[in-house]
Amino acid sequence: MNVLVVGGDGRAHALTWRLARSESVETVAAAPGNPGIAAMGADCVPVDPTDPGDVAQVADDLDVDLVVVSPEEPLVNGVVDAVQGRGRPAFGPTADGARLEGSKAWMKEVVADAGVPTARHAAFSVDDEDAALAFLEELPGFYVVKTDGLAAGKGVVVTESIDDARDAVHRYLSGEAFGDAGRRLVIEEGLTGPELSLLVVCNGREGWPLAPAQDFKRIGDGDTGPNTGGMGAYSPVPFVGPDVVDEVMKTAVRPTLTTLAARGIAYRGVLYAGIMLTPEGPKLLEYNVRFGDPEAQVVLPRLAGDFGQLCYDAATGSDIAPRFADDAAVTVVLATEGYPTSSRPGDVIQGIEAAEALPGVTVFHAATARRDGQLVTAGGRVLAVTALAPSLADARARAYEAAGRITWPGVQYRRDIAEAATAAAVDS
Ligand SMILES: Nc1ncnc2c1ncn2[C@@H]1O[C@H](COP(=O)(O)OP(=O)(O)OP(=O)(O)O)[C@@H](O)[C@H]1O
Ligand SMILES: [Mg+2]
Repeated sequence: MNVLVVGGDGRAHALTWRLARSESVETVAAAPGNPGIAAMGADCVPVDPTDPGDVAQVADDLDVDLVVVSPEEPLVNGVVDAVQGRGRPAFGPTADGARLEGSKAWMKEVVADAGVPTARHAAFSVDDEDAALAFLEELPGFYVVKTDGLAAGKGVVVTESIDDARDAVHRYLSGEAFGDAGRRLVIEEGLTGPELSLLVVCNGREGWPLAPAQDFKRIGDGDTGPNTGGMGAYSPVPFVGPDVVDEVMKTAVRPTLTTLAARGIAYRGVLYAGIMLTPEGPKLLEYNVRFGDPEAQVVLPRLAGDFGQLCYDAATGSDIAPRFADDAAVTVVLATEGYPTSSRPGDVIQGIEAAEALPGVTVFHAATARRDGQLVTAGGRVLAVTALAPSLADARARAYEAAGRITWPGVQYRRDIAEAATAAAVDS
């Protein structure tokens, strides 16, 4: 079959790469794609991926058999609705289901209905600033303030300082920080514990978990500094056994799918559960409605079998059976100087070929551009350097060796991706 991937981020590159390695897939095109995807020989169609009509038109023009959507914004805008409306299967939820990510307040409403364990919370709008500040006073010294709408992974403040929390409430509600996305917000109690991302592939009725992964949200080593879109990931996660996966499926994912169905929403595509393993058991931090970025870059390389067929089956309502190889993957995100506050475009990137010469290493492009025949930076998170190896320790060593071969002025990356997990795996 012929497949169209919607998006141009690092995850879209990983999706294209994995689809191209599927027996059932003849051609993969991307809308709009990126230089890394183009280098694979995939057709890159310059189109705004967030415009449902335009994307559906590209799918028609290419007469593809399946559309796979990478980022959240096209999903929230209804790209899947538009593609399906023209009789083509699409892997991803329709706009009604994508609201789980598009509105954190609505997500909390759904999970409350479903009885899913989650942090104590309340939602507030522009006119409720006083009530929001009063709610902060009720929380026991650990505060989380989130924009209701999409904020590219940067709309969450986690703090023990009530002054910082108050400041976030003001900046969000006033529209100063994130525009309309912040004019409604959710305040939650802070939870503690290790975090886990569980990606579940859904077919409109049921869900099947993929291999667990852990991502690194903060910019700095040791989980310091502000949140980012994600600075690295690894899979498998040594502290997450099948029992934890079963519990998350039972307490969170299945009740959510049932509640959505009762609201007339047949959820298809990836439901990504962000979980905190608290002392009282797993609690749901959030849902995303697509693969994680950079979790996709470690989960997809480990996935065995025909990924294209899996996406097609889920998109058309068949049952699936994801299988994983007994290996490990680590990805390290290379970002520009100043990220996540700012990014520096136009710096010449060197060393990708040398990095990919290492066995098991693939460099996924997240924000690159071609200028005068050279590859340059074109956003905050530029590359995701992924290594697949027999063990987590090998994959980690290989990923860092590869990252070390890539340079541009001001390149920054975390040095501790999968460090604790590697130590834990050696101990056990
Ligand atoms: N209640 C909470 N207690 C403690 N930390 C939290 C809480 N909620 C969120 N966090 C932290 O903030 C991060 C981002 O929160 P959340 O996942 O809700 O936001 P997001 O911007 O949608 O993230 P993503 O980019 O992964 O989709 C979480 O991964 C977690 O580290
Ligand atoms: Mg999210």
